[in-house]
Amino acid sequence: MHQQTFGGDPRMDVAEILFDEAAIQQRVRELADAITADYGPLWQQEPGWSLAVVTVLRGAVFFATDLVRAIRLPVTLDFMALASYRAPGRVQIMKDLEDDIRDRDVLIIEDIIDTGLTMSYLLTQLRARQPRSLTLATLINRSGLRLAHELPVRYAGFDVRDLFVVGYGLDFRERYRDLPFIGVLRDEVMAEPVRTTRFAHPSEEEFAQLLEFYRIRWEYEPRTFVLREDENGNVSAGFSPDFYLPDFDIYVEVTTKKPHLMSRKLRQVEALRLQYPNVRIELLDRAGFDVLAKKLKARERT
Ligand code: IMP
Ligand code: MG
Repeated sequence: MHQQTFGGDPRMDVAEILFDEAAIQQRVRELADAITADYGPLWQQEPGWSLAVVTVLRGAVFFATDLVRAIRLPVTLDFMALASYRAPGRVQIMKDLEDDIRDRDVLIIEDIIDTGLTMSYLLTQLRARQPRSLTLATLINRSGLRLAHELPVRYAGFDVRDLFVVGYGLDFRERYRDLPFIGVLRDEVMAEPVRTTRFAHPSEEEFAQLLEFYRIRWEYEPRTFVLREDENGNVSAGFSPDFYLPDFDIYVEVTTKKPHLMSRKLRQVEALRLQYPNVRIELLDRAGFDVLAKKLKARERT
């Protein structure tokens, strides 16, 4: 079939559909039926009972709205947002629940449980609030590499083993959540570099590539330092160093110019050091760049 495509159509990035809309809806109904059967008796026994559904933002929202509409029980909805960091198991609550879950029967809805570390952290947090019961429904349960054990995953939609999947809420770099199916991306799409930074100068890009090569994390022009304010409090002189290296807590200003031509940048760096004594900044000229590159290459060999 010939398909007319437009630039950037996300469907063009998909290599294979694993579960289409019909398969997903079928599975959602099965899970909803199981949940209805399991919690039905509580509803019948206890007047005013409802299931406290806690959805983890953002990916699980698609699954959650379909699931709760198929569950034939009264439910309340609440949401949490978590941010996981590079360090495994380090999770931060970005948005907390609005409702009290004490003595409630809580069902957490998640999009995918991978290592389980995110969920493990969340469970510890929620258990401390003393719900009556706490169980878990996940659209996808990746059973392969599970680092956290004993998760109360009572309802699981699909197992995708070691495939990275997108769609129906699941993202790759915040894209593809809106696809109505669950699929796998083409290799070239997954391999695309993250960078969309527009560098002001080729030397900056070169420096960024060097940092990338050595897997040193960097941010490009993350902040402006006020060097001088006028009487109205407006910034009359500011300085935005080119790079910040968070792992070293150091700013780097890159220049390829000869040292004696750098007086303006030097003055800015000096002014910054004077006014912000706790901020570390280095000026990197062409020679300095080469020295650093050599140092890093030497480090690579050891
Ligand atoms: P973990 O269980 O702590 O390893 O983290 C699970 C989180 O990793 C999920 O909430 C997703 O945001 C993300 N994730 C893991 N595998 C996939 C995938 O195949 N597609 C999209 N996101 C994924
Ligand atoms: Mg995600």
